[in-house]
Amino acid sequence: MNKILLKNGTLILPETTVNKDILIRGETISDIDTDLHSKPGTEVVDCAGKLIFPGILDPHTHMGIPIKDGISADNFETGTRSAIHGGVTTIIDFTILEEDQTLFESVEKRLKLAEYSYSDYSLHCNITRFSKKLFNEIPKLIQSGIISFKVFTTYEEVGIMFTYEQIEEVAKIIAEHRGLLMVHAEDNRIIQNAFKPLISRNLTEPLYHPLSRPDTAEATAVERMVNISIQTGCPIYIVHLSSAKGLKWAQHQEKVFVETCPQYLLLDDRVYHQDDGRMFVTSPPHRKTENIKALWQGIINGNIQTIGTDHCPFLISDKEVGIPFQNIPNGMGGVETLFPVMLAQFIQKGLDLSLLSRLLSTNAAKLFGIYPRKGALIPNADADLVVVDPHKVSTDWFNDLVSVTDWNAFVQFPAIFPEHVFRRGDWLVKNGELSLSSRGIFLAGDALSSHHL
Ligand code: URP
Ligand code: ZN
Ligand code: ZN
Repeated sequence: MNKILLKNGTLILPETTVNKDILIRGETISDIDTDLHSKPGTEVVDCAGKLIFPGILDPHTHMGIPIKDGISADNFETGTRSAIHGGVTTIIDFTILEEDQTLFESVEKRLKLAEYSYSDYSLHCNITRFSKKLFNEIPKLIQSGIISFKVFTTYEEVGIMFTYEQIEEVAKIIAEHRGLLMVHAEDNRIIQNAFKPLISRNLTEPLYHPLSRPDTAEATAVERMVNISIQTGCPIYIVHLSSAKGLKWAQHQEKVFVETCPQYLLLDDRVYHQDDGRMFVTSPPHRKTENIKALWQGIINGNIQTIGTDHCPFLISDKEVGIPFQNIPNGMGGVETLFPVMLAQFIQKGLDLSLLSRLLSTNAAKLFGIYPRKGALIPNADADLVVVDPHKVSTDWFNDLVSVTDWNAFVQFPAIFPEHVFRRGDWLVKNGELSLSSRGIFLAGDALSSHHL
């Protein structure tokens, strides 16, 4: 059994920061204390001056999914290669419900593909067809460790939208069985009303994409979700929240949880005026700059619980379609830069690193039923650890990425890449270099007993 002693690191725990040693034995953390001594056969890593975070958990990735005429550029293997390079030791991806498939079949098919993952993984179950027969599967799915279900309030044109009434129906079932409902919240009618006049005036360039999906669409859908959560008692997780108006509705609700993404915290809608504006076509779109301030405030106040990536990258050539913007496959990558870019931002802004640890690891682990195995730096937790030197800030890192994609939205931002990454005790990044000696495993979530973080 491998034994690795991390000496003198600064541990970024969810509530505090301490200087202690960590002993890894096999796949788990066996001890955390001051002045642990190494026994023969123990490899010692000097972590003086280094920060140690729990392994990063990205709760929102889309590896190899079909969108419009494209397929997102990363599969589980390539996407998690880059994830590990950036410190993401766990991902939670989504199933894809095909015609005539049961929910269980959609899970099984996706789990097969996920076996190539280097990060540990779990799945959210997409419910994109309204059918009582499908809903009958929910209790058993929760028992088998798939505890989160996602619905869409939009994308009617591709047949995956649920009405608010339909969402309420499914929320009741999920609540009864202690699962979690995730929602892509943009009101479809508001989008259609915004979209039609643009098309009739032939305003089809990428810069019109944000006008076709206004923040009022997000706010309306979030408001409806808050009401559904109150009516049904169902915990609801709003994915990729992008706007101040949406946040206003979601905050201070006992059972409504909010995820935002680095792209909404860092990039406003001026990106659509750039030459590569089409690359930023993602839904919801980048917003007016005042939203960025409101989202950071939400982070600081604890009104946003997680930062996920919505990792769904496309190559430059995939997005070349350009015009009309509604034909561009929507989505962008970010799993490799999630932690490096957010860490640099937190340090630059002087924000609490324990807050970052909660946003990037602990809170998602709790919400998706895999805490304290993940998201915790405590004995018996999986030895998922990210060791980073806070002084090694890089502004020229694009060529160091291991991603197969040829574009990254965050190139203008500083980043701090991990020096070492351990996933269940396996040393997968050593001195900044990948050394992928083993694959990830499936993590079954526990039904939620309490939805308070
Ligand atoms: O435009 C995006 N975000 N694409 C990925 C799928 C989704 O809606 O999350
Ligand atoms: Zn979405
Ligand atoms: Zn998504």
